[in-house]
Amino acid sequence: MTNRRGLFLTLEGAEGVGKSTNIEFITQYLEQRGIEYVLTREPGGTQLAERIRDLLLAVHEEPMAELTELLLVFAARAQHLDKVIEPALTAGKWVVCDRFTDATFAYQGAGRGLSVETIGQLQSMVQGELRPDLTLILDLDPEIGMERASNRGKLDRFEREQQSFFRSVRQGYLDIAQAEPERCTVIDASKPLEEVKLDLLAALEQGLSRIT
Ligand code: TMP
Repeated sequence: MTNRRGLFLTLEGAEGVGKSTNIEFITQYLEQRGIEYVLTREPGGTQLAERIRDLLLAVHEEPMAELTELLLVFAARAQHLDKVIEPALTAGKWVVCDRFTDATFAYQGAGRGLSVETIGQLQSMVQGELRPDLTLILDLDPEIGMERASNRGKLDRFEREQQSFFRSVRQGYLDIAQAEPERCTVIDASKPLEEVKLDLLAALEQGLSRIT
């Protein structure tokens, strides 16, 4: 008997929106239903891709060119797809990924100003037709998000960006959600955690009933 291909779920949002806590709600939900899944993240998810992540997040004396940043993100993604995501989906497991290519459109596109066409070309080259089946986007005022992120300690290369950068990233995500309402649901992450959890699980159930 051949395995049915697994589903690919992604969680997105700017800095400090509470992705780590909320991704646990998703995995608990899957566990309760006996669904086999792989939890992973981007940039990273394999040994080599995590090394590229380190390069992306570290603050370097030599400023990183925007195109270098974009190519590193996709280099890590190519590795991650080949070694983790594709094998899991093919084996019938679900993949829950903390960020994916929507983050590239939001950060490198809306944030850095790289064109949608350039990012789209790399997306096709690296992913072919593969896209997430369902994407939940945690949305929060970047001022609150950055305050939360700053409380976590030393800031990485992205977290050191200006508020205006994070406002563009946020708008980038909202634009994606508007363009692809079938795949994406925006969740208000400014509410108390218990309410965010309920909204997230409701969005997950609704999304899954649409696609399964
Ligand atoms: P994280 O803090 O959610 O683990 O993500 C690390 C950083 O990487 C975050 O600031 C967003 C950034 N990033 C991009 O700029 N482009 C991408 O495609 C991805 C996946 C992440």
